[in-house]
This record gives sequence, structure tokens and C-alpha cells, in this order.
Amino acid sequence: MKVLIIGSGAREHAIVTALLRDDSVTEVVCAPGNAGIADDCAVAPVDVSDPAAITVLAREQAADLVVVGPEVPLVAGAADALADAGILCFGPREDAARLEGSKSFAKEVMAAAGVPTAGSRTCATPEDVAAALDEYGAPHVVKDDGLAAGKGVVVTNDRQAALAHATACLEAGSTVVVEEFLDGPEVSLFCITDGTTVLPLQPAQDFKRVGEDDAGPNTGGMGAYTPLDWAPSGLVDEVARDIAQPTIDEMRRRGTPFAGVLYIGLALTSKGTRVVEFNARFGDPETQSVLAMLTTPLGELLAAAARGELASHPPLEWRDGASVTVVLAASGYPASPRTGDPIVVDGGPVPGTAILHAGTRMDGVQVVSAGGRVLSVVAVGEDLAGARAAAYEQIAHIHLDGAHYRRDIAAKAERGEITLTG
Ligand code: AMP
Ligand code: GLY
Repeated sequence: MKVLIIGSGAREHAIVTALLRDDSVTEVVCAPGNAGIADDCAVAPVDVSDPAAITVLAREQAADLVVVGPEVPLVAGAADALADAGILCFGPREDAARLEGSKSFAKEVMAAAGVPTAGSRTCATPEDVAAALDEYGAPHVVKDDGLAAGKGVVVTNDRQAALAHATACLEAGSTVVVEEFLDGPEVSLFCITDGTTVLPLQPAQDFKRVGEDDAGPNTGGMGAYTPLDWAPSGLVDEVARDIAQPTIDEMRRRGTPFAGVLYIGLALTSKGTRVVEFNARFGDPETQSVLAMLTTPLGELLAAAARGELASHPPLEWRDGASVTVVLAASGYPASPRTGDPIVVDGGPVPGTAILHAGTRMDGVQVVSAGGRVLSVVAVGEDLAGARAAAYEQIAHIHLDGAHYRRDIAAKAERGEITLTG
């Protein structure tokens, strides 16, 4: 089977790496890819926001399966265009990708499916926002209703800052979702689905804030690890039964079945498990660690989901141990990342690690930065401590002027300091 992957992040690099381990995958192409992906497989240029261009490329490449990585092409209808052309695609259609593309739509589906989530108000005016902020109280949670690359959410005790973010979103033409604050640790659970059957992967934790101890603004994600030793043992089954399956059933009932990966962002609050958000794709950087642990062949799994044949797929298999991913970000990320700086790696690869590229490109023979999140170091080890040590040893050998990364990825989990209340 020949697989075409759409996207250019470290998530796509992780997908490429996993597909290359699958004997049923004979060829992998990534579009547009980046400097590191181009070392591992063929790359081709494409405008990821253009479903017609993606379809033309898939035809030219004679791809047996297209895997769409990012949300932008999905929300733009890439899966619909590919299906219309008779090309097998892993990723939801436009009307199902709205689970990510519109936070108010996701809330409506959750309500209809009886899925537990934060109370919320969808607001169209500053007066609505002010009333909702007063209703829920601090800490305030204000979300741009539309896609915002992980940067549309503000969580703050400062009412003025909450109002200012809401006003900026409203002025840019978006509606705004104001939510009740959810306490407790966060979990990301990816569920592979064909629109009927749900197959959950291993849960992971992501680090959204730019700074150590969760300081500073939200980012696309600064690091991740899996598994979660501290999570309740029945968590995955509970979420599959009470959240994923009812959501997938509700989408099918509406005539807009969701097939692909349903990314469930959860908070384990003192009042129980609550959905923070849905995404319609694999999460970045959690995917880097989750796929590093998956030993089931990925190409066969994604093709089975795309064909509607998940019910007969064998149970998923995982390696022992743990995986930690640390993101290296450019100077100025997330506000205004600087690009064009050379990236130099000294010494040989640290055993158990891989460097997965995101915002990189070639400038002559030199790899240079080309985006905010530049690369991910993903490590596997016998336990969390081993995986952390390897990831941090490897990242110390990567040189990029002004770059920054968090030194506390998976640190609390390693020290056994994550506590559940309630
Ligand atoms: P979202 O894009 O909706 O996932 O929000 C990004 C991040 O903001 C989440 O991962 C949480 O860390 C935080 N967040 C979002 N909604 C809430 C909430 N209702 N309560 C507390 N934190 C939240
Ligand atoms: N890990 C956060 C995201 O992919 O949205």
C-alpha cells in the first residue's frame, strides 16, 4: 500500500516513521513535509488548505491511502474531495471536522450526546461576554469559537484580560465561548474510529503553556508523555464508553458520521471526568510519544478505519516502558517566532531517541528553522525516568540560536506528584 500524508509537522514526521515500520506499507510520500521528513521519505509540495490540490496530488501519486494530519485541510473539506475522487482517506469529512472547527458546535453535540463537559455560553456581543464571565466567575475561560492553532484560548483570573481577548475575537468576526473553569490534571485520549466502532489509543499528557510550571501563554504544545501511571485504571474504558462512543453515535445519527481520529482533551476534575475539547486529528506533540509506543502496524489500522472495517481489527499492541517528547521552539514563540536560523546537532544520536522535524527547511545544505515549533525530540525508555533522561540528553546536543524548551516535561509524573481529587 502506498500512503500519502498531508502536513509538515513533527506529528506528520511521527506518522511517517510509524508507517515505515509497517510491512504492508510499500511507499510513503509526505506533502509538503519538511527538511527532516525529506530524509525519511519522498516529499511533494502542496497547499494544505486546498482540497482540490490535495486530490490532484493523491491521483498523481497513485496513493492507496491519504492520511490528513492537520485540522486546516479537514475543516476545508479535503476528506470530501478525496472521497468524491474515489481515494481512500483517513480523516473526517468537513461536516464532521466541525467538532474541532467550531467550539460551539462541539458543545451542542456533547449536550445532545449526554457527554460531560464544562458549562458554557456562546457569546456574540461584549455584553453577553460580561454576563457569562460573571455567571461562571474566576478563573475565566474565554475561547475563540473557530480554529486558532491552540492559541485562541485564554484562561485567566484577570477579568479585564478575559474581556480584552473576547473583544479581540469578536472584532475579528468570531463568536466567543465563555466556559466554566475545570480543575484537575489534563489527559489527551486519541480514539481511532470508522464512524461506528471506537478504538482508543494509550492516553497521554500534553504541556500547553510555553513556560515551566505552566507559566505564560498557551502554545500548540511544548511536550508530552505516555503512559499515565497516575491515571485511574478504568479511565480509557470509561471515556470510550461515556464520551467517545456516544459522540460518534450522535454524529452518525445526524447523518454526518465522524471517521478518523477523535482527539478527546479531558480534565479529571474533582466532580468527575469532563471534556475540555474535541479535535478532529492526532494531537501534536502527544502523537510523537503515543506512536513511539504503538507496535500494531499503523498503516493497516488507519486503512481499516478509512474502509469502515475497524470492528474486525485485532486489539492494539503496545511496547513496555514510557515515552517522553520535548518540543524545541524558536526564539519568540508563540508570539512572534524568529525563523531562518541554522540548526546544528553535535554528536551521534542518543540511543532510544529520534529527532522529528516540524518548522524546518533546507537553506542550501544547511537545515534552518522555519516555524515556531521547530522540532520534537521523542524518546522511549524502560520507564518515565529513562525516557526523560534520554530526551533531555538528546535535546542538549541540538543548537539553535535563541531556542527554548521546557525542562519539566513529565517531571511531576516522574516524581509521583500528580494528584487526583474527588
Ligand atoms: P482548548 O483549545 O479548548 O483545548 O484549550 C486549550 C487549553 O486551555 C486546554 O488544554 C486547557 O489547558 C485550557 N482550558 C480550556 N478550557 C478550559 C476550562 N474550561 N477550564 C480550564 N482550562 C481550560
Ligand atoms: N496537543 C495539542 C493539540 O494538538 O492541539
